[in-house]
Amino acid sequence: MQMSKRKFIKNVCLSSAFLLGACKIKSLSGITNSKSKSFGGSMHKIELPKLPYDKGALAPYISENTMNFHYGKHHQAYVTNLNNLIAGTDLDGKSLEEIIKISHADKAKAGIFNNSAQVWNHTFYWHSMKPNGGGKPSADVLKKIEADFGSYENFVTEFKNAGATQFGSGWAWLVLENGKLKVTKTGNAETPLTTSAIPLMTMDVWEHAYYLDYQNARPTYIDTFLNHLVNWDFVSENLK
Ligand SMILES: [Fe+2]
Repeated sequence: MQMSKRKFIKNVCLSSAFLLGACKIKSLSGITNSKSKSFGGSMHKIELPKLPYDKGALAPYISENTMNFHYGKHHQAYVTNLNNLIAGTDLDGKSLEEIIKISHADKAKAGIFNNSAQVWNHTFYWHSMKPNGGGKPSADVLKKIEADFGSYENFVTEFKNAGATQFGSGWAWLVLENGKLKVTKTGNAETPLTTSAIPLMTMDVWEHAYYLDYQNARPTYIDTFLNHLVNWDFVSENLK
């Protein structure tokens, strides 16, 4: 199932449990923040966005068991923690991206930053994959990759290296910075959203992303991501 940024935004908005016309779209990269307002007070909630495919759709490369834990437990926990942390504060009611940027600039809000950025990063990760994905991208993206990396093979080498050398937990990214494609990596919950770079695609290299399917073989998971999962249509949409 292909998911363009526009469809992604629409699905996120439609999946809001208590949608009252408050689905705000404000992003360079297409990540949205659906907020709900309860009838009984002023509490706003960050919602867990709906997956763009069934939980078993990425098998055998990422199992439904992994998705049950990764999406159903870990991603959900970041959403729950974030709502608990911002309830009644000045961040209550702000968009997810606003919360990320404000909390990133304030060391006292590290817990809020970690949870809000992890909510955003995971949503972006789900959309960075698709069933029957991977391999070389279509002509428009391939041309840009060849122009900025020299070759698709050079991109693969850089991306594999970023994922494999991220010590401990973190993320590998394909971003657009100053008009050029670039591979980066971030530790823990850090995200390009707090930089000038525009995220185009990401790969989660926290152990919880691959341990049930690949145990400690992170390089095998990275190969599988590139060969069978990466959603180049999403990259293409984000480049537009
Ligand atoms: Fe994760």
